[in-house]
Amino acid sequence: MTLRLCCAWIFILLLPGLSDGGKLLVLPMDGSHWLSMRPLVEKLSERGHEVVVVIPEVSWQLRVAQAYTVKTYPVSYTLEDINNALSEYIATHLKDLPFPLNTLAIYNNSVHVYRLLFNQCKNLFSNKELLQYVNQSSFDALLTDPIFMCGPVLAQYFSLPYLFFMRGFPCNLHYDASQCPSPLSYIPRLFTFNSDQMTFLQRVENALIYLLEPAYCNGFYGTALEFASEILQRDVSLIDLVDSASIWLLRYDFVFEYVRPVMPNMVFIGGINFQPKMGFIYQPQISALSECILFINQVLISFSWSLTYISFI
Ligand SMILES: *[C@@H]1O[C@H](CO)[C@@H](O)[C@H](O)[C@H]1NC(C)=O
Ligand SMILES: *[C@@H]1O[C@H](CO)[C@@H](O)[C@H](O)[C@H]1NC(C)=O
Repeated sequence: MTLRLCCAWIFILLLPGLSDGGKLLVLPMDGSHWLSMRPLVEKLSERGHEVVVVIPEVSWQLRVAQAYTVKTYPVSYTLEDINNALSEYIATHLKDLPFPLNTLAIYNNSVHVYRLLFNQCKNLFSNKELLQYVNQSSFDALLTDPIFMCGPVLAQYFSLPYLFFMRGFPCNLHYDASQCPSPLSYIPRLFTFNSDQMTFLQRVENALIYLLEPAYCNGFYGTALEFASEILQRDVSLIDLVDSASIWLLRYDFVFEYVRPVMPNMVFIGGINFQPKMGFIYQPQISALSECILFINQVLISFSWSLTYISFI
């Protein structure tokens, strides 16, 4: 009896369809963010995963490619709109205004850019055909650069497990959401330009910035939060959107950061930013790619039937 059961299992495992890779939906971010993510997406596809990248029709870097399947959706802005917003954003940084006018101008401008680019997400959700495609394709997981928060909304809407591939959030959100300690006396907050050795006054400044963070991050992400609450039909906070990520692939190097404990699902993959030049491939990029694939496979194995069979063998 046991032998028969065993044979039946082996037979099931050897059925062709069951030894496929996972089905991964990818929602990337445009611009330089995509330059680091593209080699990973290509590699995953090369390794036998079914990868579908969803991109807006108007973009700087995102293109239809041979290596993976691409689904596009129309957006309500033009390339000129985003080019203008970016030029204005850069110009504000170069204006050399005195404090606090510089901070206010940069803040105002960032909110404008976030709002403009978040239209992508609204356009995606108003594309019924694309939503139906995602719903019917039964993806195993979503890989996303969450800087504009569209990925987490999409993943939660379809109850997909999701993985982040990212540099960082403003307001220390990536450490707060995963409950990593960031003591104000030793970890300088973004925009303070302090080091981990602060004077008393610098620590006070650090604490003040910390107190302002909820307000400025809710400003940055105001449109996204409003939209997420409407789509998911409940009150959604920034922490709700990011704290259930399965894995955080962080594309920077731990040695360049301030020392602090991090969670086991946070992986530093700074090497991914190395780009091969003249046919020469750098070892850090290979290691970072392997590490990403290892962790993505772990998530897919946990959620995908076909991969679960493979891991049993
Ligand atoms: C805020 O930014 C918008 C768009 O970039 C601009 O039109 C507006 O004048 C700015 N307001 C302030 C107070 O700087
Ligand atoms: C996905 O499709 C099923 C079956 O048509 C439907 O019941 C479900 O509500 C859809 N899910 C979403 C999130 O649209």
